[in-house]
Amino acid sequence: MSTGRFTRRDFVRITGAASLGLSTPAIEAAAQPGGKSATLPMAARRFPKGFLWGTATASYQIEVAWKEDGKGESIWDRFAHTPGKIKNGDTGDVALDHYHRYKEDVQLMKALGARSYRFSISWPRIFPQGTGAPNAKGLDFYSGLADELLANDIKPFATLYHWDLPQALQDRWNGWQSRDTAKAFADYAGYVAEKLSDRIRHFFTINEFTTFVEGGHGTGLLAPGLTLPPAALNQVRHHAVLAHGLAVQAIRARGRKGTKLGPAENITTGVPIIETPEHIAAAERATRELNAGYLTVMLEGRYTDAFLKAAGADAPKFTSEDLKIISSPLDFVGINVYVPNRYVRATKEAPGYAFLPVSKSHPRMASPWHIIGPEALYWAPRHVARLWKAKEIYITENGCGAADEPAADGIVYDSDRIMFLRSYLTQLQRATSEGVPVRGYFHWSSMDNFEWSDGYGTRFGLIHVDYATLKRTPKLSASFYREVIARNEVV
Ligand code: FCB
Repeated sequence: MSTGRFTRRDFVRITGAASLGLSTPAIEAAAQPGGKSATLPMAARRFPKGFLWGTATASYQIEVAWKEDGKGESIWDRFAHTPGKIKNGDTGDVALDHYHRYKEDVQLMKALGARSYRFSISWPRIFPQGTGAPNAKGLDFYSGLADELLANDIKPFATLYHWDLPQALQDRWNGWQSRDTAKAFADYAGYVAEKLSDRIRHFFTINEFTTFVEGGHGTGLLAPGLTLPPAALNQVRHHAVLAHGLAVQAIRARGRKGTKLGPAENITTGVPIIETPEHIAAAERATRELNAGYLTVMLEGRYTDAFLKAAGADAPKFTSEDLKIISSPLDFVGINVYVPNRYVRATKEAPGYAFLPVSKSHPRMASPWHIIGPEALYWAPRHVARLWKAKEIYITENGCGAADEPAADGIVYDSDRIMFLRSYLTQLQRATSEGVPVRGYFHWSSMDNFEWSDGYGTRFGLIHVDYATLKRTPKLSASFYREVIARNEVV
């Protein structure tokens, strides 16, 4: 069937329908005459067999049913309820109402062809006071979600901390400023693993150490909105990685044998400005130092000399036992990759690298922070594999915000998101084709959702959400991603 029979509008309607699993043959034939890739040879675009495609979300951004079924208050509930903290005064009180609509949302993911789903568990839903008596209804929700995913052939990957600390722990111990919070996190993690690791076989400990520590305790733009002095901030950094290590040990002790574990960190990536051996080596060295407080200490069991020297008297207080815990062996490393954080060149003088300014005219996506650099999705996993010999890597987030206005025909023609994804995935495929052990990719996000202090204004989903009615509608990019998954290649 030729595309000539369809108007552009019909064509998209059908792809939209195909992405919902309603009608596929017409569009497949139209999109791929002769059933063969018309442009590049397959090998130049294909991902390894069994590559795990999925999407990602987080509890506070989608659920939220913030007071329901015994859930305790989180620091994000408190922060969003504080006037002036979130753009337009938005809150996550309802968000996408995923708590009640999760079955519908699982069907949307199934229609995409997703083979995995990364979601987060809300700590105060399980332990409303952070510690003490668990809330059975909270656990039931995640248990039901895991069952629903498995019944639809989608592997559940759970993140244990995506920033919604129980407010009770903020009040009792000043949250992450205290070592006790790290211990309480491990108890919660061990409890969840004991109850759910029969079905959830993969856990991420903490999402984006860098963002919640620096944003929540340095700039104050994220919950709990603190601006701590350097020594206290370094101690929070240390408690965050310590919490990760303690949780790894607790899950190993209490979860089913073979439960797989790792962090989900937004690695700060050094990108060689020109891909020659000296600049590449410089970018690798820079990446190790740029991540000294997080991935480097987790994967090497030591703070780098440069990190300690720069911190001076404000360095975190720690013991050698802490370092052993922090670097407990992992099964995989999860990295969130959105931007080329620093363009790097080699220098003759120490430390052997320098950072370059980013041009004023460098192209950006809709979020002002989002400079475009598809090559980051090549360099980030490659650095992780080379610096730390990681055997298994997941891209735990990648995606972009876009304007995403529905057109007169109701369709969101997010051509910019498709451009973004095609460019980034091409670089990821470059990495896997060179043997970098990336095993899967989770697109951020399944659906538009509450984008932290930006509120609902910035949309990151493959699926559009009408916030007045909560109606979900796949965007054009959902059709794109569905084809990527179905063919296991860049399309
Ligand atoms: C990451 C967060 C995620 C989402 C995306 C856009 O920093 O982990 O929750 O907000 O950015």
